[in-house]
Amino acid sequence: MRLLTSAAAIAAAVILPVAAHAADAPVQVALDASKPGVVIDRHVFGQFAEHLGSGIYGGIWVGKDSTIPNTRGIRNDVVGALKALKVPNVRWPGGCFADQYNWRRGIGPERKPAIGEPNTFGTDEFMDFAQQIGTEAYISVNLGSSTAQEASEWLEYMTSSTDSALGAERAKNGHPEPYKVAVLGLGNESWDCGGAMSADFYVNEMKRFSHFVHSYNPAQPMKRVAVGPSGPDPIYTEAVMKAWKGRSWAWDIEGLSLHSYSTGGWPPHMSDTGFDEKDYAVLLKDSLGMDDTLKTQSAIMDKYDPEKKVALVVDEWGAWLVPASGSNSGGAVQQNSQRDAVLAALNFNIFARHADRVRMANIAQMVNVLQAMILTDKDRMLLTPTYHVFHMYVPFQDATFVPLTFDAGAYTTDGVTLPRVDAIAARDKAGKVWIAVTNIDPKSPATFSVSLAGVKATKASGQTLSAPKVNSINTFDAPNTVAPRALSAKVAGGKLTVTVAPASVTVLGLE
Ligand code: AHR
Repeated sequence: MRLLTSAAAIAAAVILPVAAHAADAPVQVALDASKPGVVIDRHVFGQFAEHLGSGIYGGIWVGKDSTIPNTRGIRNDVVGALKALKVPNVRWPGGCFADQYNWRRGIGPERKPAIGEPNTFGTDEFMDFAQQIGTEAYISVNLGSSTAQEASEWLEYMTSSTDSALGAERAKNGHPEPYKVAVLGLGNESWDCGGAMSADFYVNEMKRFSHFVHSYNPAQPMKRVAVGPSGPDPIYTEAVMKAWKGRSWAWDIEGLSLHSYSTGGWPPHMSDTGFDEKDYAVLLKDSLGMDDTLKTQSAIMDKYDPEKKVALVVDEWGAWLVPASGSNSGGAVQQNSQRDAVLAALNFNIFARHADRVRMANIAQMVNVLQAMILTDKDRMLLTPTYHVFHMYVPFQDATFVPLTFDAGAYTTDGVTLPRVDAIAARDKAGKVWIAVTNIDPKSPATFSVSLAGVKATKASGQTLSAPKVNSINTFDAPNTVAPRALSAKVAGGKLTVTVAPASVTVLGLE
């Protein structure tokens, strides 16, 4: 992972100011693959799996004795679907849950349940899940209600050899080889559910945890992520980064967390399926605010860290809507529509434009919670529109950003104005250039005319995701209402021309 690297200057896409734009005028895009930018770290396509609602129990874990096909208690259908996403990392066990988690209750043959938490899915099960889907572990330790000693012992259990008592206990529990913990979260939302700490108080706690909670495998150091801001709030960013500038041999961090949800106003009040065009526009406009949030936070970080050594880690993002009707309101279950697919693509594009500072992100959440990839109901599973966007964007993992210029135009409904379209491009490690175009306008198709420099191509092919309506969803009875379909486009005279559906996401590779 490139969390530690200092990034070269970003070659950002230039999106010209929003201007009045005839809805059917082709969008003129200029792509210059001879001027590459920075690498889009694959870790920005990370996920978050918290012990919340049925995110774990039912969604990932069904237990070894379940009639639902499983491998050591972990659902085979969910694992199969997630493998296709090449998920780079999964943040676990929370969220707010992490700051009340007692790892000891979740290991060994005798699990010790808490109220509402059976602890049958614990450290060994999570690491098994991570290995089954082929991802890296991002472990959030309990800084809010526990001690550095307890967190350090958890790391000893996970990462030490069997020469230590806790490494030996892990071996007794079936795993002699130490696990790899790639990323360590030093608390969660310490300004709120993680202890309601002032920023200065948190900084002192975080320094102790950074020092004492370490990997016991010198060959596998971890990236440490400190709690950072909520949205554009500067207070934690200032305090943590100022402290970081004065760091010593005894403590360090490689990442600063940012949580920023798309809600259209707090608390969440927008419906997952029962929304009109205005609500569509309001939520997406709010989501596009991620760009300003990243600019604000990056500017503060630049003051203390101009070399961009500390990554901004957007480890909770996505749409947070009113719980689906009929669901347990505490479970944060929401359906997932074509609107969410567009929202996901817009956020990926923003992260790509900030790739020099944003080197990791985790959508909230993976299964059955908030903007999920997958919904399950007993033995049934469906892939959401957001899943499909993650799948379509796989070629962008570790690809090198290619600058584009275009006039995004404007789409206005009921007094809400946002860009009509968006686009990014990148060159993958094999040299292939990919372009992703999003048509935000839910009423009109968009034609893109892309002039290609620095790349030779005769055609482009890939997939497009559109839907009958912006609030179209997949259900257990109709799981393929929103599904990608193959699309190819001609390249003639050095220009790629493609027309895409209203409210759609398209990813094409140049050939
Ligand atoms: O993702 C749901 C919750 O949102 C997380 O537990 C918490 O960190 C955030 O407030």
